[in-house]
Amino acid sequence: MLYIGIDLGTSSVKLMLMEGDGTIVATVSKEYPLYLPHPGWSEQSPLDWYEKTIEGIKELIKDCHRSGIAGIGIGGQMHGLVALDREDRPVRPAILWNDGRSSKQTDYLNDAIGKDRLSGYTANIAFAGFTAPKILWMRENEPECFERTVRIMLPKDYLSYMLTGVSASDMSDASGMLLLDVKNRRWSREMLDICHISEGMLPKLYESYEVIGVLKKEIAEELGLPHDVKVVAGAGDNAAAAVGTGTVGEGRCNISLGTSGTVFISSDSFRVDSFNSLHSFAHADGRYHLMGCMLSAASCNKWWMEDILGTEDYQGEQAGIDRLGENEVFYLPYLMGERSPHNDPLVRAMFYGMSMSTKRSDLIQAVLEGVAFGLRDSLEVARQLGIDVKRSKICGGGARSRLWQRIVANVMDLSLDILENEEGPALGAAMLASVGCGEYKSVAEACESIVRIRESIEPDPELVKRYEERYQKFRRLYPAIKDIK
Ligand code: XUL
Repeated sequence: MLYIGIDLGTSSVKLMLMEGDGTIVATVSKEYPLYLPHPGWSEQSPLDWYEKTIEGIKELIKDCHRSGIAGIGIGGQMHGLVALDREDRPVRPAILWNDGRSSKQTDYLNDAIGKDRLSGYTANIAFAGFTAPKILWMRENEPECFERTVRIMLPKDYLSYMLTGVSASDMSDASGMLLLDVKNRRWSREMLDICHISEGMLPKLYESYEVIGVLKKEIAEELGLPHDVKVVAGAGDNAAAAVGTGTVGEGRCNISLGTSGTVFISSDSFRVDSFNSLHSFAHADGRYHLMGCMLSAASCNKWWMEDILGTEDYQGEQAGIDRLGENEVFYLPYLMGERSPHNDPLVRAMFYGMSMSTKRSDLIQAVLEGVAFGLRDSLEVARQLGIDVKRSKICGGGARSRLWQRIVANVMDLSLDILENEEGPALGAAMLASVGCGEYKSVAEACESIVRIRESIEPDPELVKRYEERYQKFRRLYPAIKDIK
């Protein structure tokens, strides 16, 4: 049978057609605009997501035996607020995961409600990108939108709602709303009251691999697909990527270098770190994970290369960079503020340490290193918890650069496994569909038979030492600038 995996990303929707044994038959990607109406704000139109996904599915399946398509799985950008009115129209553009407008509401939740209570209700504290503070922001700043809202959902759940007519979410993505009692995998009544919403406005909860319904008749006809194509609940993009890279089970790690940068550690049991610096979320295999998320990772490189230096020749510009660990320049990757571990939506990026001998390539290298240092900040929290991570998978667009792979391996002192397919979330979503349709008995079984490692990169002890010294300097920069706003 064939399965469609969809990754609703921040810059584009990526679609993949996968055979039951994991062979990738076709991939398609469709871009849509990102709106940044004020510094620190980030929005997209759910209608764009839907239109581009339908276009993408049509292109993806044009040459295949459509009767062989059994299921669809969707992974997507987490935490976004999609609010729909009585006619299922968005009351306003979606407010995305990297939007920092709700700092006041985040402070209210963390300070007035209190971190201990939040952590007790949800296993997490408030971060500006999470859905709950955005609901409070909308209620306070756009009361007419709040009044018209009948349904609240996450970005990928908007797609599955449009495709099936069923309002459903999965545990991994729902974890990032700050409305889920993560440990017990149910909506938190206390959080719904705090946010002035009712359970009826929220999607019904499923595990990621469970079937939520089939395609609406008119959509199956428009796409030329069988009416019984099943749609599974899917997962937040990081949990989907973890499935696509085989990061399930106790203590496995996946690093994602996409628009955001994440360190994802899967776990068989529920746990919370004492400062809630890492997110404690449900995983797509029915278990749990800890995650640190930096808001700007590959997007720092894209911004620096394309918007500032005016080039798309990533390979050419990186080709001459060979003095790892020796750069004098530091880059703080806080273009959209920072989530893990600083929880500071208002901090901004900067270069530090330039002199008259600084070259263009030093700044390019500094950006790649700054992102790796930011990821290391999250890994350090996990290490303090006693989680001894020595190896990790790596995926996402940035993971295609050999230079960046080496920098990450040495900054983080990790052996990195490079996969045959680095498109984590779309593959993971297709795999979840294959589990839901009975091709595999469990997510772990699907990972075991589908995920293939192409090669591994080992850290070099000499470089690890040099980067350790640089990391200790990097760590001093955020405290030095955090009050300058
Ligand atoms: C995770 C997060 C990001 C988005 C990016 O907490 O906010 O990784 O999911 O798509």
